[in-house]
Amino acid sequence: MSHTEKNLQQEIDELRERIRHHEHRYFVLDSPEISDAEFDSLMQRLRGLEELDPSLITPQSPTQRVGGKPREGVSQVSHSVPLLSLDNAYTDGELREFDRRVRESSGRETIEYVAEMKLDGMSMSVIYQNGKLLRAVTRGDGTVGEDVTENARTIRSLPLSLASSAREAAKLPDRFEVRGEVILEKKGFERLNREREQQGLSQFANPRNAAAGSIRMLEPRIVAGRRLDYYAYALLANGRVPLAEHRQVLEMLADLGFKVNRNWRHCRDIEEAIAFCHEWESKRETLPHEIDGVVLKVNPVALQEELGATAKAPRWAIAYKFAARQAATKVLGIEVQVGRTGALTPVAILEPVSLGGVTVSRATLHNEDEIRRLGLRVKGVLVERGGDVIPKVVRVLSDQQFEMPKRCPVCDGIVVREEGEAASRCVNVNCPAQLKESILHFAARKAMDIDGLGEVLVDQLVEKELVRGIADIYKLSEPTLVELERMGKKSAQNLLEEIRASKTRSLQRLIFALGIRFVGERTATILADHFGSLDELAKASAEDLETLFEVGPKVAASIHHYFREPRNMKLMERLRKEGLRFTQEREARSMSLAGKTFVLTGTLERWSREEAKKRIEKAGGRVTASVSKKTHYVVAGADPGSKIDKAKSLGVPVISEQKLEALLQ
Ligand code: IVH
Repeated sequence: MSHTEKNLQQEIDELRERIRHHEHRYFVLDSPEISDAEFDSLMQRLRGLEELDPSLITPQSPTQRVGGKPREGVSQVSHSVPLLSLDNAYTDGELREFDRRVRESSGRETIEYVAEMKLDGMSMSVIYQNGKLLRAVTRGDGTVGEDVTENARTIRSLPLSLASSAREAAKLPDRFEVRGEVILEKKGFERLNREREQQGLSQFANPRNAAAGSIRMLEPRIVAGRRLDYYAYALLANGRVPLAEHRQVLEMLADLGFKVNRNWRHCRDIEEAIAFCHEWESKRETLPHEIDGVVLKVNPVALQEELGATAKAPRWAIAYKFAARQAATKVLGIEVQVGRTGALTPVAILEPVSLGGVTVSRATLHNEDEIRRLGLRVKGVLVERGGDVIPKVVRVLSDQQFEMPKRCPVCDGIVVREEGEAASRCVNVNCPAQLKESILHFAARKAMDIDGLGEVLVDQLVEKELVRGIADIYKLSEPTLVELERMGKKSAQNLLEEIRASKTRSLQRLIFALGIRFVGERTATILADHFGSLDELAKASAEDLETLFEVGPKVAASIHHYFREPRNMKLMERLRKEGLRFTQEREARSMSLAGKTFVLTGTLERWSREEAKKRIEKAGGRVTASVSKKTHYVVAGADPGSKIDKAKSLGVPVISEQKLEALLQ
């Protein structure tokens, strides 16, 4: 195909517009309309057209995001309006105090606020001229920052040019400034650190450092691979906020095509704002990125201007900082704990440190490899016991590499580390530590839910050999119990009642409670639903188990192995005699997909979509059109669409049609 100059330009323009639209759908709104493959082919086509006449390439073209020239050194740029910091508040009292100051200096009775996520990244100002990204500058010291334009171009959620319709509607001057935060999502951060580990590079301590380090790198090509994100939170035209209310600013930024964190709220007064802060303090983990607090901003812009700023921070905004989740302290030693499966876990004994309102004095070190990775070494000393009663330290030895003990610290049993496994295990099946943990697991809330059977009691029961196996719990009697510490007649009776009540727990709970390796609550439910009885489950071959949805070879082998162990079979027989429930009602079984939400994508072979939908619904499930965090499974047929990517990004399992059939059986 040959192009005249005119229609080449036109075609390029149209393509860029389409790509821009899809980039916005994907990177900003998180709701793509076309598949990745379709998107790639649009990009490829644009690249091809631009190659025909490179003079038509502009810095705003979507093809120019990746690459760019390396920066030669760092060039400094002054901010026209300084980028201020924020004052911090750590308690409700400090927030109310801030509100009181605002009320007093404004003479208003109540103040409206906009509460926003405080994104934990690096602030960056971006200037647009005639709708095009002109320059991006880091915060720097607030007055002068670094020019990072080429790197900022690689951020896919940052528009290189703005749709003219939105720009006209906004009635902004030719030149304006957007301020916001460059961040790296938790997933991208973990990926980056994994890659660095493989390359033998040091790790970034947190996503903020990774984002800040990345945006300031000299090589845009590398920055492009880091998948940074940009969230806008402020707009300035001629040095002022061009709207009457801050919430309108957030709305306008979104209309212009910027990514704005949608979890902001307009609060009628400080109490509403405080409630919002608490809400997000407990929900912060649900976000794909880190936040370190909530920012409260006075909503009326006129009032913001009236209040002004100190040299450091505006008087109209405050950051409510969440309690810290990291603190520095000293390692006093390493202790080794033995878990339910015999796994040995090294635990760091710490000098107590206050963290998020609790005192922390122990922290897990996971396993030997992790200690190596951390490079943790502990000082050794030579102690001597001479004629004196009190032993003394004679000499300080050099730092020592931690070695996993060869014998179980609890029972002195042999410790084995199997090839390919990170964990070392005590292989003594009678190890009291394992028994204690098994009982605690059996009695846990999500298992047999035996209230009152806690650590202190279990320790005594095992040590006094009143309980030598799980089934012995059901043989406990009031006279035995009252002999124990902290056990009155009443608590003994209550506990016995709890133990009796546990006999009627569902099959799913019982399977989970047995503590079979790799069988969590979810797998236990699947097993209970599928087999309907413990005896059927025990009979199943590893192959039978593997045909089950979500049961992989490792899990199947573990279950199979469990029911081949004579002592486990003995346990089953004793539990049966005690009258525990070994079966599950039919009714519950037929609704195997109760409460589960599915999304179908691509062409299914065996059933039409309608048919598949009917079957899922018949089994108690639901089918919805789009993928969200609430989706349980995405069923992918041939040529699936972008829903797959969405599912992956949210961590929703993608299953085949065959797996769906298995689930429905
Ligand atoms: S407003 C003049 N809003 O927090 C107002 N800042 O601790 C200053 N930050 O430097 C910024 N999320 O990098 C604002 N929603 C948000 C924010 C936010 C994160 C950062 C920003 C600022 C720092 C101050």
